[in-house]
Amino acid sequence: MKVTYMSNRRRLIPHPELNDAAADRPTVTITVDGRPLQAAAGQSLAAALWANGIITLGYHSATGLPRGVYCGIGHCYECRVTVDGTPNVRSCLTPVRNGMCVTLEKIESGSDHDD
Ligand code: FES
Repeated sequence: MKVTYMSNRRRLIPHPELNDAAADRPTVTITVDGRPLQAAAGQSLAAALWANGIITLGYHSATGLPRGVYCGIGHCYECRVTVDGTPNVRSCLTPVRNGMCVTLEKIESGSDHDD
């Protein structure tokens, strides 16, 4: 099967299991740290972030190491982001919706973990 990438996004079109269903989805616009991004309606927020090249969603409080999607099924809490002002939303369990406003966790400047 020929695999084609959607422009600069990281979605597979066609998907080997979903065939053309993934390609036929309408797009929605979400805002991530003030930047508007396109996402496929109905996909998880985690998948939308990945599709737009965003894999670091925050930083471990003790080590400062990057956090991101790990389990993808709601168990590890490593994919937490702030959605419409609500912190600690698991992006892997949250479907995107038009107008969603997402904030990624930042490392405070001057901390031991920002290098
Ligand atoms: S990736 Fe594990 S809870 Fe979301």
